[in-house]
Amino acid sequence: MIDLTVAQIADIVGGTLADISPEAAAALRVTGTVEFDSRAVGPGGLFLALPGAHADGHDYAGAAAAAGAVAVLAARPVGVPAIVVPPEPRAGGGLAGVLEHDTDGSGAAVLAALSKLAKVVAAELVVGGLTIVGITGSSGKTSTKDLVAAVLEPLGEVVAPPGSFNNELGHPWTVLRATRSTDYLVLEMSARHPGNIAALADIATPSIGVVLNVGTAHLGEFGSREAIARTKSELPQSVPSSGVVILNVDDPAVAAMARVTDARVVRVSRFSHTDSGPSDVWADGVSLDELARPRFTLHAKDTRGPLEVDVQLGVSGDHQVANALCAGAVALQCGATVEQVAAALAQSGPVSRHRMHVTTRADGVTVIDDAYNANPDSMRAGLQALAWIAHGQGVDAAEKRRSWAVLGEMAELGEDSVAEHDRIGRLAVRLDVSRLVVVGTGRSMSAMHHGAVMEGSWDTEAANVPDAEAALALLRAELRPGDVVLVKASNAAGLGALADALAAGQGAAR
Ligand SMILES: Nc1ncnc2c1ncn2[C@@H]1O[C@H](COP(=O)(O)OP(=O)(O)OP(=O)(O)O)[C@@H](O)[C@H]1O
Ligand SMILES: [Mg+2]
Repeated sequence: MIDLTVAQIADIVGGTLADISPEAAAALRVTGTVEFDSRAVGPGGLFLALPGAHADGHDYAGAAAAAGAVAVLAARPVGVPAIVVPPEPRAGGGLAGVLEHDTDGSGAAVLAALSKLAKVVAAELVVGGLTIVGITGSSGKTSTKDLVAAVLEPLGEVVAPPGSFNNELGHPWTVLRATRSTDYLVLEMSARHPGNIAALADIATPSIGVVLNVGTAHLGEFGSREAIARTKSELPQSVPSSGVVILNVDDPAVAAMARVTDARVVRVSRFSHTDSGPSDVWADGVSLDELARPRFTLHAKDTRGPLEVDVQLGVSGDHQVANALCAGAVALQCGATVEQVAAALAQSGPVSRHRMHVTTRADGVTVIDDAYNANPDSMRAGLQALAWIAHGQGVDAAEKRRSWAVLGEMAELGEDSVAEHDRIGRLAVRLDVSRLVVVGTGRSMSAMHHGAVMEGSWDTEAANVPDAEAALALLRAELRPGDVVLVKASNAAGLGALADALAAGQGAAR
């Protein structure tokens, strides 16, 4: 945040003052952070009163003031100094359910006010030299955000959201964590509807935009891959001509976005050339270590001349090569040396929870916890990592480890859900996964199990259990030392706790 008076904030958001005189508001400064949880408020802070599942933030205004909040941004007077914005009828197209409990439009009004404030603050900080990096894609935004934050760290002060906090609350909230001493603001930009990314970019316009891939995540809501591509292309369209757009051109739908931006394009690829032309940043000689952590040589055409450096990633999965190349491209644009990029990538392990967290227990069982999220592309990536860790190293069968894929539902696939789950069941068989445990009931989960059986799985190799508890009971009975277990599903399937229990040693191998 920048130092603003309560009166200035009221002016920016178009709110009225309550329980504070105009004179006092003109003198009172917000010097702390902006918080929506009264327990996180500190001295000089601004408290946002939002309706939640169990409580209404307006009821916590007093607690926030007692904790040091100088004012509350609210939809009605709350008995302590406040900036009041009138409730707004809910605007369509909101992101992930923040306003689920907003029955009267008060949450929408407070969020709209927050966005106005974030926009003014971001613009002011950019004038002062802040660089905003925006990342979008169907898979890998959070993973790449963590890598970008790591590679920019040696260059200056970085602000990035925790985890995947990128919805209509997380986005402006993160923007407002930036201060005058922040050099880089790294934002994850996700979309559920056309216009979402343009709206996020309007609040904080990136001068560096990264597009990772156009997959099938949220296909149910968008209807087609073309519609997803159009929505993702709102990011390159938003980057001004003075900025840079970094495109993973291994995805043809992303490569095509070079045509929709006025900004300079940096083409990133696994290869020095692709169908769409030569690459600016690429990888050579990719190999994986025993935990599927990629190693490769990063090449870049740079204003400083051709650059090259050997890179060993601290994160697992072949799909991380593309994420790391994009992160490297961001850092090089910001003036990092290739040595700085390589060192930061090597040190950067998994940061955000339940994303390719690889743990090897005392009994030799390796648990790959990728339970946060799943769509067809990331399921493929996760299964490939499992297959590599279990089987990739061994030249003969005796060196192979048993592989377990404990998979839950991929949410939000719409009418393609059954076919996509069927494909994943079949892929598990093709990758020679030893045991597939399909967790959950319903048509899609039956389709995954059925797909595996039709592809040639024996009954002893593919099971369909009703819930995470049943899956844990099965694993507890059957895991053996040296086994490798992948736990993966959409967050809604709730396999995170199962992954935690396994990693903590429950279901110990006998
Ligand atoms: N480039 C990639 N291609 C395919 N899968 C990927 C890629 N990068 C990460 N993944 C996998 O996709 C899943 C989600 O990763 P991550 O949380 O980084 O994505 P996200 O785009 O932030 O997702 P969300 O839309 O939920 O915020 C994880 O299983 C991760 O291992
Ligand atoms: Mg994310």
